[in-house]
Amino acid sequence: MFFHSIILTIATAIIVISAIYKYYRCHTFWQRQGIKARYVPDFGWMREPMHEFFYREAKKFGNIFGIYGIGNSFLIMNDPKIAREISTKEFHKFPIRWGNYFGKTSVILSLVFIQDYDAWKRIRAIAAPAFTSAKLKAMITPINNISNNFVNNLKKHAENGEMFDMKIYTNALAMDVIASCGFGIELNSINEYNHPLVKHALRIMNVDFTFSMIICMVFPSLGRFLDFDPVDRKSAKFFDDLTFKIIEDRLKRKNQQKKDLIGLLVEQTVNDNSESNEIDKKEQKLKGISHKEIAGQVIGFFLAGYDTTNVALCHIIYYLIKHPEWQDKLYEELSTHDSSLDYESLRNLPILNGVIYETLRLKPPVNYIPRYTNKDTTLLNTGIKIPAKTTILSHPYIIHRMPEYFPDPESFQPERFMGEKSMESSIAYMPFGLGNRFCVGMRFALIELRAAVAHLILNYRLLPDPNLKLDYYKGHFILSPKQLMIRIAKR
Ligand code: HEM
Repeated sequence: MFFHSIILTIATAIIVISAIYKYYRCHTFWQRQGIKARYVPDFGWMREPMHEFFYREAKKFGNIFGIYGIGNSFLIMNDPKIAREISTKEFHKFPIRWGNYFGKTSVILSLVFIQDYDAWKRIRAIAAPAFTSAKLKAMITPINNISNNFVNNLKKHAENGEMFDMKIYTNALAMDVIASCGFGIELNSINEYNHPLVKHALRIMNVDFTFSMIICMVFPSLGRFLDFDPVDRKSAKFFDDLTFKIIEDRLKRKNQQKKDLIGLLVEQTVNDNSESNEIDKKEQKLKGISHKEIAGQVIGFFLAGYDTTNVALCHIIYYLIKHPEWQDKLYEELSTHDSSLDYESLRNLPILNGVIYETLRLKPPVNYIPRYTNKDTTLLNTGIKIPAKTTILSHPYIIHRMPEYFPDPESFQPERFMGEKSMESSIAYMPFGLGNRFCVGMRFALIELRAAVAHLILNYRLLPDPNLKLDYYKGHFILSPKQLMIRIAKR
């Protein structure tokens, strides 16, 4: 008996000491490599706007620092050269964007969230051609029509001269564009907020943290165990059913595909005629794209393309109000430009493009660019050891404010992006991400922004307001102002 208790005590002591030692080794991992680290995750990034939280942390800890999470760790990498290498030369080590658990809906098949490298490569090769200039030219007509509608909906505010929330209108524009160019569904969501597509899209893109979302993000294994989903299952099912119906319809009308994103993906569909929502495991081996994967892409385009473009437009409007001299220059450029606002001419307006690129520098819509590794590895040029289950985060908002790359970084200077020495190709410019996984919808987003801004400025003056301030959502992945209260007048 006595002997048993001694064994038990020694065994308990060994377990406790090894646990403490393991905890100590894990929680000094970064410091032992000479990298500063933040100890306890205090969820500060959820209690204030994420860009403000990380900017303050970067001022304390520098461009590279570690964070110990719960059962995982993070490396903040705001050195643009290394960040770029991680996404290019060292991409094979970090092909995955996230290590979180994203549940079981078709969202996990979207390019944004997919965690299987081979499937990502196959789907990216299929999706990327949908965003070439040739394909996008066909989308400029619906985009121009929706921009016209956007401008018409604003008429009453120009007439009464009162302050209103412009974000309601940019929300509607972004929703109508993605519904039309993604699904071929014509909406006027400003008057149709009860339309099922609008309701379900907004539910899927919910900016408020839900309990299951937090569990899946912070405790992925628990999320998996409890069978949680970070997105609304009913809404994901709505999008699956809608997509399957559209695909069925499109397959019947072979050779007359609509030139929207679903149409372009359906051209390459695996014609399995499957009505099942189950994912066939063999599917991963196929060359084409299955119906369920198309549904995943379309939801992904909503998740990746709606709010990003929406907040970019809000910020462009914000800077044009803060810098009326650029509003005047832009109006001059647009009004002396004689051709219609077609795809090519919109691409070739230097002031319009300078304003958009400079806004995306100062207010990059995506707060961080993540890269994740499942295996222990080393960053070659730095020798930094990266343990498995580490996420590396780069913050465009911080990198875009480095004076060595962008002198006088806080000032709004669209001329940085005009002319031959445009900073668009700077290694530190990354509003659309980096390397192999950079934003597939970049050209689409730019053409939407150019059309919307051109229509707006040709029709209205955005009235100056020295008190204009933006208040941002807390802890949100997107740099999203809650509202944009402005006044406008007819030109
Ligand atoms: C101003 C608007 C936009 C901005 C600033 C933006 C930014 C980004 C960023 C930073 C990433 C991550 C890139 C990386 O990890 O390196 C990304 C990925 C992605 N974006 Fe965008 N985006 C915008 C609009 C759009 C639109 C309109 C669409 C589609 C219609 C779209 C589709 C995607 C997809 C599918 C991915 C994942 C790509 C992959 O992993 O292969 N984005 N975007």
